[in-house]
Amino acid sequence: MNLKQLVGIESAKYVKDGMVVGLGTGSTAYYMVEEIGRRIKEEGLNITGVTTSNATKEQATKLGIPLKSIDEVSCVDITIDGADEISADFQGIKGGGAALLFEKIVATYSNKVIWIVDESKMVKYLGKFPLPVEVIPYGSAQLLKKFKEQSLNPKLRLAKDGQPILTDSQNYIIDLHMDVIKEPVALANWLDKQIGVVEHGLFLNMVDKVIIGDPVEGIKIIDVAR
Ligand code: 5RP
Repeated sequence: MNLKQLVGIESAKYVKDGMVVGLGTGSTAYYMVEEIGRRIKEEGLNITGVTTSNATKEQATKLGIPLKSIDEVSCVDITIDGADEISADFQGIKGGGAALLFEKIVATYSNKVIWIVDESKMVKYLGKFPLPVEVIPYGSAQLLKKFKEQSLNPKLRLAKDGQPILTDSQNYIIDLHMDVIKEPVALANWLDKQIGVVEHGLFLNMVDKVIIGDPVEGIKIIDVAR
């Protein structure tokens, strides 16, 4: 079993009967969704899922997981999602899979957030992983210029055909190749104010539990106070 599968299956143990569960996106969250599907089928688990992307919605639908949209539930009991980087103080970068907008909305309305990662995602400072910023297409060239002026080393994310990739909300992603982000709060506040920025991938003070797959130690679980 690979590490992503290991943490995906482990995280599904936190899902209990009757819960509304935020279903994350990505290659790690994939295994968690599969395991929840298995539990529904084999154990009669009774939950409602709230998906964070079209890809997860498709997977969950195939597995027969009952779904509601974020606007049809009063709150989400628990959200389980992957992450691209987690710093020593448990701040995160997400959005490598371009799903950061829905992921952040679902996490915001969740009582508890669990991130599932392999050890390679744990870093001292954020920033080696390019920070994804979701922007509306209109005015995006101006934003690129502005990010360049701020030395944020922006690159518009392109698909294989050379066209900008489109998010589930039909927006673009600009990745900021900064190498290190020493002041994530200040950067998040600045990005929040930029016109045309829909959302960014800095997930600050959003996680309650991190489940890490370690090649030597196996599963490590860290409870985060926030
Ligand atoms: C998608 C995300 C993912 O959770 C993140 O990219 C981690 O993905 P993976 O588990 O495939 O490494 O934020 O927008």
